[in-house]
Amino acid sequence: GTSMTEPVVIAIDGPSGAGKGAVTQHLAQRTGFQVLDSGALYRLTGFAARLDGLELSDAPSVAAVARGLNVRFVPAQSGHEPFEVMLRGVDVTDSIRTDQAGVDASTVAALPMVRAALGDRQQAFRQAPGLIADGRDMGTVVFKDALVKIFLTASAEIRAERRYNQLKNKDMDVSLAALLESIQARDARDSNRAVAPLKPAEDAVVIDSSGMPLEAVHEAIWAVVSKVVT
Ligand code: C5P
Repeated sequence: GTSMTEPVVIAIDGPSGAGKGAVTQHLAQRTGFQVLDSGALYRLTGFAARLDGLELSDAPSVAAVARGLNVRFVPAQSGHEPFEVMLRGVDVTDSIRTDQAGVDASTVAALPMVRAALGDRQQAFRQAPGLIADGRDMGTVVFKDALVKIFLTASAEIRAERRYNQLKNKDMDVSLAALLESIQARDARDSNRAVAPLKPAEDAVVIDSSGMPLEAVHEAIWAVVSKVVT
């Protein structure tokens, strides 16, 4: 018989602060594809678990929170985020972007039960005309059959500086040294965990954006994507 063709996936993986979010939005505009911000799902899980007063190490309870996440991504009309994130009907767009929420996300992301719980939810984003999936394990685990896999990275110092400027723009009170330390700790946790560690897929195109203006990063990635997606 005839086989159904699944919508194509473009996987954008890499460490925190490499510019995946900006690249994802840029590609979404150029292709009209759907977007999955998988990091937001881990951030939401950590955030909701804290709201519920759970220990983040309590895997079964945190996994239950992940499975039951009541979340909506609403395209934003204005502001610095492309989507407003509604958790249980409450706008948590900014609350899940704090450095603490990132640390909590990477803590719950190391739990296999949590990763399994978020697996189906991530698959559901694969819809026509295609999907841009932003994360750590999009090309290695969740969408192994992605048509294009990009691993976008940059030095920890440059990523800390970019994050510093982002948070400053949101009037958040941060120190560059503390951010660098936090990014290095998060890299170590994401890279050394047993399940779905952060690493490029064998068939990924690796792009180091250190010292590259954002425009140049966009063009380098579009050069790869436009060869296969029309
Ligand atoms: O990308 P973002 O910084 O929002 O992700 C927050 C954390 O969620 C990461 O540091 C990582 O630990 C976890 N994560 C993950 N797998 C993904 C996306 C995010 O483990 N696909």
